[in-house]
This record gives sequence, C-alpha cells and structure tokens, in this order.
Amino acid sequence: MESNEISSHLAQHFSLQGTLSPLAGELDLNYKLDADQGDRFIVKVSRDPETIASIPFQEALLLHLKNSDFKGKIPAIIPNLKGSYKSAIDMNGVVCVLRVFQWMDGRLWAKTNPVLSDLRHGLGNHLGQITQNLQGFTHPFAHRNFEWDLSQCLWVTEHLHLFNASELALINPFINAFKTHQKAYNTLPKSVIHNDANDHNIIVSHALIQPEIIGLIDYGDACYSQTINDLAIACTYGIMDTENPLAACLPIIKGYHESNPLSEQELLHLFHLIGMRLVVSLTKAAMNKKEHPENKYLFISEKPAWKLLEKWSGVNAKLAYYAFRKACNYKAHPNLTKFEAWVKKQSFSLSHLFPDQKKQDAIHLDLSVSSLWIENEAAFNDLTYFQYKIERLQETHPNKIIAGGYLEPRPLYTSEDYDIPSDQGPINRCVHLGVDFWLPSKTPVHALLDGTVVMALDRKGEKEYGGFVILEHRFSNDSFYTLYGHLDPASIAAHKVGDALKKDALIGKLGSKENNGNWAPHLHFQILLDLLDYTEDFPGVQTYQSQELWADLCPDPNQMFQLKSLKLQIKGAQKDLLDYRKKHLGKSMSIQYQEPLNIVRGHGAYLIDQNGQKYLDTVNNVAHVGHEHPRVVKAGQQQMAVLNTNTRYLHSNLNKAAKALIDTLPKGLEVVHFVNSGSEANELALRMAYTLTGSKEVIASEHGYHGNTNTTIGVSSYKFNGKGGQGQPENTHLIPMPDAFRGNYRGENTGSLYAQEVQKAIASIHEQGKTLGGFIIEPIISCGGQVPLPKDFLPLAYQAVRAAGGLCISDEVQTGCGRMGTHFWGFELYGVIPDIVTIGKPLGNGHPVAAVVCTQEVAQKFANGMEFFNTFGGNPVSCAIASETLSVIKEEKLQENAKQVGRYLIQALKALQKDFPIIKDVRGHGLFVGIELLSDQQTPLAKEAEYLANRMKDLGILMSTDGPDHNVLKIKPPMVFSFEQANRLLQSLRKILKEDFLSVPKTL
Ligand SMILES: Cc1ncc(COP(=O)(O)O)c(C=O)c1O
Repeated sequence: MESNEISSHLAQHFSLQGTLSPLAGELDLNYKLDADQGDRFIVKVSRDPETIASIPFQEALLLHLKNSDFKGKIPAIIPNLKGSYKSAIDMNGVVCVLRVFQWMDGRLWAKTNPVLSDLRHGLGNHLGQITQNLQGFTHPFAHRNFEWDLSQCLWVTEHLHLFNASELALINPFINAFKTHQKAYNTLPKSVIHNDANDHNIIVSHALIQPEIIGLIDYGDACYSQTINDLAIACTYGIMDTENPLAACLPIIKGYHESNPLSEQELLHLFHLIGMRLVVSLTKAAMNKKEHPENKYLFISEKPAWKLLEKWSGVNAKLAYYAFRKACNYKAHPNLTKFEAWVKKQSFSLSHLFPDQKKQDAIHLDLSVSSLWIENEAAFNDLTYFQYKIERLQETHPNKIIAGGYLEPRPLYTSEDYDIPSDQGPINRCVHLGVDFWLPSKTPVHALLDGTVVMALDRKGEKEYGGFVILEHRFSNDSFYTLYGHLDPASIAAHKVGDALKKDALIGKLGSKENNGNWAPHLHFQILLDLLDYTEDFPGVQTYQSQELWADLCPDPNQMFQLKSLKLQIKGAQKDLLDYRKKHLGKSMSIQYQEPLNIVRGHGAYLIDQNGQKYLDTVNNVAHVGHEHPRVVKAGQQQMAVLNTNTRYLHSNLNKAAKALIDTLPKGLEVVHFVNSGSEANELALRMAYTLTGSKEVIASEHGYHGNTNTTIGVSSYKFNGKGGQGQPENTHLIPMPDAFRGNYRGENTGSLYAQEVQKAIASIHEQGKTLGGFIIEPIISCGGQVPLPKDFLPLAYQAVRAAGGLCISDEVQTGCGRMGTHFWGFELYGVIPDIVTIGKPLGNGHPVAAVVCTQEVAQKFANGMEFFNTFGGNPVSCAIASETLSVIKEEKLQENAKQVGRYLIQALKALQKDFPIIKDVRGHGLFVGIELLSDQQTPLAKEAEYLANRMKDLGILMSTDGPDHNVLKIKPPMVFSFEQANRLLQSLRKILKEDFLSVPKTL
C-alpha cells in the first residue's frame, strides 16, 4: 500500500518509475528503486519531525562535500522536477519529505566477509578524508541536541535501570571514565562529522578479494562534535565480532591518521569513547526493544555489541592508548624519547648489577628460533644438557657474562600459556622483551640505581618467573621500572612493596631451576616505562605482531650498559634472501606464496618462521614422523660423528635398515637397493625393468609424476604434458587417469574399464612390433589430485602387464610407510604385490634416503655384470636415519594414528561437504586426503582452491593444491598429526569456506 503511494509520488515529483523494494532504517522509510530506465536509486521518506528538520543541513553538507576536494563517493542527491532536492508528500494525512539519492553500487560492510586489515585501513582513511574536507563547514542544525552525539552521551545515565547487575558492571566503568576525562575531552578539536560509520552505512566494492571502501551513506546523524568521535564510532563497528578488537582497530586508526592527523590528546580519549559508543548503542537498543519490539533493525547489533563491550572491558586502557599512538607513528610511550635521552647520559655497568662476577662485558647468546646453538625442543627442554652447554660456553669466555635476548623471537615458550587466540588463528607470545644473563644460581643481583619495590613475589609454576621483583626509579620527574625475574624466592622474601632500595643494595640471588619455573639459572632483566596496571606479574614476552608496540614500552636494557656485544641485530632480512635467490638460484625452482615464508625450524606437525610464527603443516609428507623428530635427528648426528662412507664395506646399519624395510613388506619383496631420492629410486626401478625385459616400453598413467630425472620425467605426464614439457616420449604409453570421480569412466565398478585401457596400451605396443617393459603407477595418484585407484583396477592391470611379460612397479614415494593407515604400503589397499617397490620421501624423515625393493628374481637378473655403485646411497648415516624412522613409526604407533585421525578427518570433511557445495569430492586413505572443488556444472575451481590455501596460510595453516586442474586441496601432514590439529584444520576450513569468494554460488 505504502509503496504504491510512494511510487505515484515518485512519478509525480521526480518522473521516476520502477520497482520499489523496502530497506532497513531506524526512523525513515527507505526503499531501493530499480528504475525502468535502468538506474538504481535510494528513496527516503522521512516522517520524523527531527529528521525533517535535519534535511537542509544534510543537503548543505552533501553539496559542500561534492564541491570539495574529497575524492571518495558521496550519496548523490537527485533534484525533483522543480529543481528542489526534496518534495513534501502527504502519506495518510501526515506530511512527509520524499528524497531520492543515486544508488551507491557495492555491498554493505555488514555483508562483507572477510573484513581484513586493508579494508579497515581503507575505512579509516576514507573517514579521515571526509572529516578533512568538512573542516570549515558549519550549519546551525549541526549544533542540535542529539542523543547520538557522543559528547552528549551522559543521557544514558537516566536509563541504567534497563540493565542488570552484570551488564552494569560492563557499562559503568566507561561512564565513569567519560566523566573523569570530560573536562579535557571538551577541549578537543571539533568539526562537522559523519557520526555514524556503522557497518550498515559503509559501502564496500564488489571485489571479493581485496575489496575497497566505496563510500559512506546516510549522513542523517552528522553533527558538530569532537572530531575524534567519528573515528571512535567507525572503530566500534569495524571491530565487532573480532577475536582481538584492539589489534583490529589499529589499521582503522592508522588509515584515519594518514588522511586526517590525530593529536596525542585526541588519542587519549579514544579507548573510552569506543566503550561509550557501545554503551549508547546498547542503551538505545534496550529502549527500542521495549518500545518497538517488531523493528529488528533497531537492535540489530545488540548481541555483538555486548560481546565487544565485554572484550573491550578486558583491554587495558593504557595499553590501548599506547597501541593507538604507535598506529599513528608516535612513540608508543610518551616518555620514551625522554627516557632514552636520560639513560644515554648515565653510566651503568654489568659489574654494578652482578658485583661478585667482576665482569664488564657480555658474550651474546643467540636463543632465537633460527639459532643452531639451541638445538631442538628435546635438547632445550633438557635442562641438565642446557646448563652443561652454558657452562662450556662460559669456560671459553671466562671474562664475559653470557647474555642476550632483547626482541629475540624464541622457540622456548612451549607451554600453552604463551598461546593467545587471534583473528589469524592462535599466535604465540615468543618475542623476548628483556635481556637474560646466564649465571649460576645464587649469583647476587644488585640495584643499579635507587629504587622502590613495587612488586616482590614468588611466581610459581612451569616456565614462570619464580622470584620476581620490580623496582620503580625516578628520572627527570618521571618514573621507569626495572624487572628482575628468576630469582630465588627466599632471597627476596624480605622485600615489601614500598621498600626503598639504594643503589648497589642487594635485590636478590638467582634461583635454581627448582624454584624459578624450571628454567636454567639466569636473570631476566627488563625495563618498563609503565606497569600497565599489573600488580602481580608483567609479561616478559609478547607476540611478534605486537613487538613494535612493546619495544617502545620496554626499551632495550642494553641502553643502560651500551655493550657492543649486546647491540640489537636484525637477522637476514626476508627481502635480501629473496633477492639473492631470484638472482643466483635456479629460476625454475618455484617458491610458494606471494609473500614467501622463511621457515627456520620444524617441530612435530609445525613449521616455524624466523619471527617465531608457527604454521600447522598439512603438506609435508616428507617429515613423516614429525619435523626434526629428536630420535631420528640423534640417530643421524651420532652416526655422522663416527663414520660415513659408501656401501663397499660391510656395515651393520645397511643390513639393519634393509631388514627393517623388508619386515614391512609382503613375502617375496626382499632385496633392497638404497639410493638418495624418489627420482633415483624410480630411475633404478625402470632400469631394472629394461634390463630384465629388454624393452623400454613403459605404461604409465596420465597426470602421474615419478621424478625429476630424464627417464622419470619421460614417464611423468604431469611434467612432459605440463608447462615447458617436451610431450610424450615414443616409448611411454599413457592410460587415462583411473579416476572414478571425474575420469573417462565414472562411478563404482570402473576398475575393469580402466584395466582394459592397460590392455589397449599393451596391444598398441605389440602392434608396433615391440614388447612391454613395465608398468609404473602410484596407489593413489598424488599429483593427479589424490586420486585413489578404482577397485579391481590394479589386480587386473597387474595381471595384464605380467601376461605381457612386463614388470609392475609401485611408486610408494608419497603413499608408503604407514600413511594409508589401514596398510603400511599403498599397493596393499588393492591386494596386489608388485615386482618392484620404490620408496622415497618418508624413509629419511627429511634426510635424502630412498630405496628400491624387489624380488630375488628381479635382483638376480638385474645383476648382469654391470656394477651398481652409488656414492651416497646406503651410507651408514642414511641407513641409521632410515632404521630410526621405521622404528619410530612402529613404536609411536603412527600408522594407527594415520588410520584413526585420517578416518575422523575424512568423515568430518564429508560432513563439511554437505554445508559447502563447492566441495564436490572428499577422498583418500589415512592421512592422504584430497578435497576437490567444482562448480555445480563441474567446472574445476582452481582460483577458489588457491584462495583457500592462501587464506589458510593467513590463519597459520599450510595447505597445497594440485591435480590437472589445480582444484584439489591436498592434505598429507606429518603422521603425528593429532585429532586436535585435525579439528583446528576443520574449523579454519569452515571459517574460510564461508568467505564471500567461496560462498557466492558457483554457476560457471
Ligand atoms: C610419486 C612420486 N614419485 C617420485 C617422486 C620423486 O621423488 P624425489 O623428489 O625424492 O626425487 C615424487 C616427488 O614428489 C613423487 O611424488
């Protein structure tokens, strides 16, 4: 009814006809008009007298912006037939105002997923530009009494009865803070501001990757107020539903500051204003809910607002202020420059801190993630061994104190207390904010300058501080603090808060590992410019993401000592590594990710980069029993220290590794040749087939990959038919990939049809007057997209090959060593026994050792007089490693783990498939899984697969894509992959599959 009336008014006043569809709105009636002429408009009918009164102001504001230097989009206001921007209309006896605006093409921020830093930065920047261009603009109506004007927000105090006690506990602190700061707040710069950059008023471009801000709509709440309010409002809505709202608002602030610089005074108020905007919005929602329970728009953001208020209440206000400053390129702490100037003029020495040591200089100890000294987790968690190494180091540098660690990203903080959730998945507090001095327990620590005790306690617990003291010191009318961790609690028991300690007074003695959180004895020494309201603790490590902020709050302690040996060193910059690699390393060696990773450490199913960022690795089936498994590492190290030579001598390691392998294989496969890589294994296997059969004619599958040597490339259609490939060699005979899902023959019972393709290939070889040499295939075709072979295919194919005199080679480079879960080898899934098995990647857990295992008959015939000599293959180090890897698989029951976790993962992925129709197939065995993405019309979705892999990396999970159409996600993690890690993978996949790029219907 209403829309019919409006349609006729539109025709009468604006000569516009078309289809009207209602839009949400607080007070106005809003419609989208799809005009018959093709254009789109927003139609606003204002009934509320206050809104009607505001219209001339809005009009003036929009015209001002239109004529300013503002580059962004504003709602273009359409004149009616009389040239006026508004028409008075009668709606059921009420005089209303009808206005028409050009439709701003794009989508709402509220409907955009994901919202990432760049978009937030864009929002801040856009808003700053609007405010910049409104400087000097004014209008009498801008100065009205207005509940949405944050400077007038204390009206909410009259409605507190709408809230219960726990709600009030969240609300009141912000009201009180507002009151406390009101006097200073009143002096802040003011201007006309948009005042309502909420998620339903921000238009974002349609681009599903890296969208941009198009513009803001709805200037109905514009008013003259403190300029900073506009940013506070944008932050409030821009950080809803985030894991870490403080981190999320920083790009908005940064972007804003770049276009409309913020003063330090303005930043002082921002934290409370964000809280206060939430309070205003929640009060309005509570009132509206009572008055208009039917209008859902009125309390649309109530739930997320409560959630945010709760999180925001948990953020330290001072820390937020410092973070805001840093985002605006101010020093995070306002006293930092002053402190640095003061400390430069002082002279402190290590001999003041540790007088009994009588040492002035330090020797730097690198405990960063890439440090080799630190070794692996097993080594650094073995405190006796760690301490032994410290003592050895001390012996070689008797006149120096072992020290270091400022801003060092360390792998040491392995307890879960150091993990925090973030919008990028769990992140790790690993960057060290102090300097550690590695000295014997009981070493006395003395005050470097006069101070007052502000904390002295025993922080008990694993990887905690133990005895812990913070002293306050005065400098230039201000304070700074020094922190001493890992003291013997007994030695500080007498200190009380408020006690004065004179320069050179004893602070305490270093603790032993028993009483300082199970650390080897050392002093953690840190400078703080603010206690940040901590009363019983203070963080000694922080995340890499917040490192720049914390470095300004906890300056380098070496500023006190000025030691060259402790000067901050920034390790090999990422760009240098990349530049050199680009210039001097093979150009065809690909590198993953637009921003490549510099991985320096591995542990279990994790890879860790130079900044201590941990990535869950679902790609690496080379690190079979877990990255740098300590037992495998030790086996290699020990043998390497004693002997490494070739196989022309007897060595028990060689026999032991051979036996360990043979024990896993079916009877008959019992002769081993060790080599160095999967390629070499297949190269040798093919040579065996040639030697035995006298024929070089080989049958292989389409999209197969068997190695990087000339011969193996020749049987790898993935390569010779791929980019830069030379095409199919004459003596390679391809069968279509036996893919029952999307291959030439589809569905169950297609095994025999694909086996007939093998027969056809044999027939064609015979037609050419040749005989068959061999048949090589993987049990699950990995580069083909994790494609399991159809039932019956392999038995029938082997039968045909053998009948034609050929040898059957099973390439187990990817699938072997327990990965299949139910079976140790891939071929066992199909009940066949090959003549030759090739084994690569998993056997050495990263060390280059591979093997060819064959029958006695094959081995004997291959030994035709030509010696098989391999300089490195089968050396004692490689064999020690291979034996140990096989033992670990057995003893840690990793095949069983692959079975259980793999089954769970495949089932859960199939459940995911039901919710996300672009997943068209989930397949695999054990921990060797593929997820195929297709449109409903079966078009392969390569870009979507790539998007998923890239976004998963943003969440700290590494995945790879493959398949002839690059639309298959491969999951083949180290075999220690746990249920918990599988769940993290599944949750992250679910999150990303909901993102716009993947969830927009695929109808290609
Ligand atoms: C199935 C298969 N065979 C052989 C190879 C070659 O192994 P390598 O890279 O150790 O030479 C690979 C390597 O990815 C492979 O996936």
